Amino acid sequence: MGNLILFCQIQCLLSLLLFVSIVNPTPLCLPNDKAALLQFRNSMSIDDSQSKTNSWNESTNCCSWEGVTCDKATGQVIGLDLSHASLSGSLPQNTSLFRLRNLEYLDLSWNSFTGSIPASLGNLTKLTSLLLYVNNFEGQIPDVFGKLNKLTTLHFYGCNFSGQLPPSMFNLTQLTYLELSSNRLEGPLPTNVTGLQNLNEFQSTDNLLTGGIPSWLFTLPSLQHLDLSNNRLTGPINPFQKSNSIRHVYLPNNVIHGEIPTSFFNLAKLTELDLSS
Ligand SMILES: *[C@@H]1O[C@H](CO)[C@@H](O)[C@H](O)[C@H]1NC(C)=O
Ligand SMILES: *[C@@H]1O[C@H](CO)[C@@H](O)[C@H](O)[C@H]1NC(C)=O
Ligand SMILES: *[C@@H]1O[C@H](CO)[C@@H](O)[C@H](O)[C@H]1NC(C)=O
Ligand SMILES: *[C@@H]1O[C@H](CO)[C@@H](O)[C@H](O)[C@H]1NC(C)=O
Ligand SMILES: *[C@@H]1O[C@H](CO)[C@@H](O)[C@H](O)[C@H]1NC(C)=O
Ligand SMILES: *[C@@H]1O[C@H](CO)[C@@H](O)[C@H](O)[C@H]1NC(C)=O
Repeated sequence: MGNLILFCQIQCLLSLLLFVSIVNPTPLCLPNDKAALLQFRNSMSIDDSQSKTNSWNESTNCCSWEGVTCDKATGQVIGLDLSHASLSGSLPQNTSLFRLRNLEYLDLSWNSFTGSIPASLGNLTKLTSLLLYVNNFEGQIPDVFGKLNKLTTLHFYGCNFSGQLPPSMFNLTQLTYLELSSNRLEGPLPTNVTGLQNLNEFQSTDNLLTGGIPSWLFTLPSLQHLDLSNNRLTGPINPFQKSNSIRHVYLPNNVIHGEIPTSFFNLAKLTELDLSS
């Protein structure tokens, strides 16, 4: 009897799996997408026989390749997770990677990419998540975010970016997560920001940011966590209007002076404030 029930359970499970795979088959990848992926892979050096790109075989459906996600209905490549893929090389202006115009998710973190990020990144207008952390890029973050207005996540920790922050980044309206720590970013934060209404978390520690600490940081409607530790920002902090979302403010190891504005006492949700030097 027990065996019979077990048998039935296995049968039912198999039927269910079969049902799911009929209703939800792996979509068939589009030839242009496959060509772009292979061209990109072939333009990189791959330093590890275990790299996930080694499963990319021209004679198979690219929607089944490791790291590749396709739209179930159209077969377009919409996600590419190449984190920890032992890739090194650079991204030229005409990189075939940026021909994947339907990408919504792009993760190149933990590789050894070098060179600067070309402005053709601006062609990926459907991107919602861009993760590039821990690479050896060079130069500035390109000012292309005016076109990438669907972004919700930008993760640029330890990318070796330098220079000023691109102004268009501060116009993003859907962005919830912004991580820029451990680069060599310099220059001031903009004084006036109209975007970032949905920003939840903003971290840019261990950079070379200078200039004042603008009040908009404390009045963004959704911001909960702000960490700008270890920069060269200078105080005083000007009084600001009441905000009701921020919980954590970390600004140690900057050059803050002057009085702590009483505005901080009006922040109802604030639980941690570190202005030490
Ligand atoms: C690609 O797949 C084909 C068919 O499955 C197989 O014969 C071939 O050896 C594979 N090539 C590589 C490089 O894995
Ligand atoms: C990019 O352009 C260079 C020459 O400017 C060319 O050699 C290379 O093949 C092109 N790459 C792609 C992916 O089109
Ligand atoms: C987008 O790609 C086209 C080629 O397909 C290129 O001519 C154009 O410069 C790219 N746009 C940007 C912003 O780089
Ligand atoms: C880091 O960026 C600088 C300047 O942008 C560049 O000269 C240097 O080669 C980069 N470092 C590495 C390890 O790629
Ligand atoms: C930010 O958006 C505003 C309003 O849409 C626009 O006027 C401004 O030029 C944008 N700034 C940047 C740097 O993209
Ligand atoms: C900031 O933006 C507001 C509204 O667009 C404008 O009235 C104000 O002059 C701007 N301030 C600065 C310093 O640019």
